[in-house]
Amino acid sequence: MQHDYPTPTHGTRVVVSPANVVLGSGAATEVGEYASLYGSRALVIATQQIFDIHGDQIIETLHESGIETAVYTDVRPDPTVSNIEEAHELWRTEDCDVIVTLGGGSSIDTGKGVGVLATNSGSIREFGVDRAGYEGVPNPTPPLVAVNTTAGTGSEATRSIVVTDDETSTKFLIVSQNVVPDVAVEDPELTVSLPQSHTAFTGIDALTHAIEAFVSVKSYSVSDDYARAAIRRIVDSFPKAWANGDDIEARTEMMIGQLQAGQAFTNSSVALVHGMARPLGAQLHIPHGLANALILPYVVDFSAMAAPEEYAEIARLFDVADDTESDRAAAKKASDAVLELCTNVNLASYLDEFGEVPDREAYLEVVPKMAQDAVDSGSPANNPRKPTKEDIEDLFVQIYDDALAADSPRRTTETR
Ligand SMILES: [Fe+2]
Repeated sequence: MQHDYPTPTHGTRVVVSPANVVLGSGAATEVGEYASLYGSRALVIATQQIFDIHGDQIIETLHESGIETAVYTDVRPDPTVSNIEEAHELWRTEDCDVIVTLGGGSSIDTGKGVGVLATNSGSIREFGVDRAGYEGVPNPTPPLVAVNTTAGTGSEATRSIVVTDDETSTKFLIVSQNVVPDVAVEDPELTVSLPQSHTAFTGIDALTHAIEAFVSVKSYSVSDDYARAAIRRIVDSFPKAWANGDDIEARTEMMIGQLQAGQAFTNSSVALVHGMARPLGAQLHIPHGLANALILPYVVDFSAMAAPEEYAEIARLFDVADDTESDRAAAKKASDAVLELCTNVNLASYLDEFGEVPDREAYLEVVPKMAQDAVDSGSPANNPRKPTKEDIEDLFVQIYDDALAADSPRRTTETR
């Protein structure tokens, strides 16, 4: 529920943020009170799996605050145009006035999409950055309360929506200040039930957001501060939260870290890793975070010498370098530090369970298309070292040989 903001024309920056962040154990019990500030009929949006775990608690708090509810629980892990259209139909027929999402990025992005359709005419596809450009949603959207259950995509703090086109199985991006949630509810207790695999996927996604925001050509002082804080928190707490899901202190730190990572990239940008992760994820049918994990160390290695100061600081935030080393020497250590973290949370071991890796020949056939999709997304242009399409093809091949093939070094060593 934002407004029709002007485009900054005098070198000013707009710091994007949800209007309210409710943070800490027990925050979920306050969902009803916050939603009642905005409306009296809530459309609750979730995946069935998450609704089965947390739905009763959220519905109860809404009812206690006098809010009537309609519920949409058909959200897919990568939400589709159909998800948004179906949920919007329920919004309309149930005459709702506030959106409450329960879940991670998939539910939040569906909720944001419903908001777009509620106050703007046209199909959701028309608001993609490839068609409408950035800030392509003209009208303010209905109030949105995002109850986060992962740590995470940071979508509760961003102006982005990622949608899968049912017809082409490709993802498109919508970016507008008009879709930033009004309330982000960050209750770490809700992440305790997150399976270890999804703790790994969402944690590495958050780390990737922070690193990409920090090195992006669009970064600036405020996004850098968010990114530094996020990297430090995630480095310290991610392995702890992964190893012991009940460690509420680590879960809390990860919840704050992923929020700050979301604030970092929505005020800067993502870059080459995300540009490559979307087509790789679609090709291998793997979760977004796992795609990031497979790519991140290679892109850090590829980019480090183009921005040695930034990558040196990343290495220092990882505590693998200190101030006595030159920036170039420190920057060279960033890639190994990232790879070690991925190894510590056992990421490559999830490939067989969550994905389908084609043989090398079949993979090589789709590499040019994946590289073109990456370029077309616009994200690689934000990278400190701007890759050619051929550079991206080479990276995809290197990733296959090092991390995807059954006998690749990462798959044979990345086990605990
Ligand atoms: Fe991401």
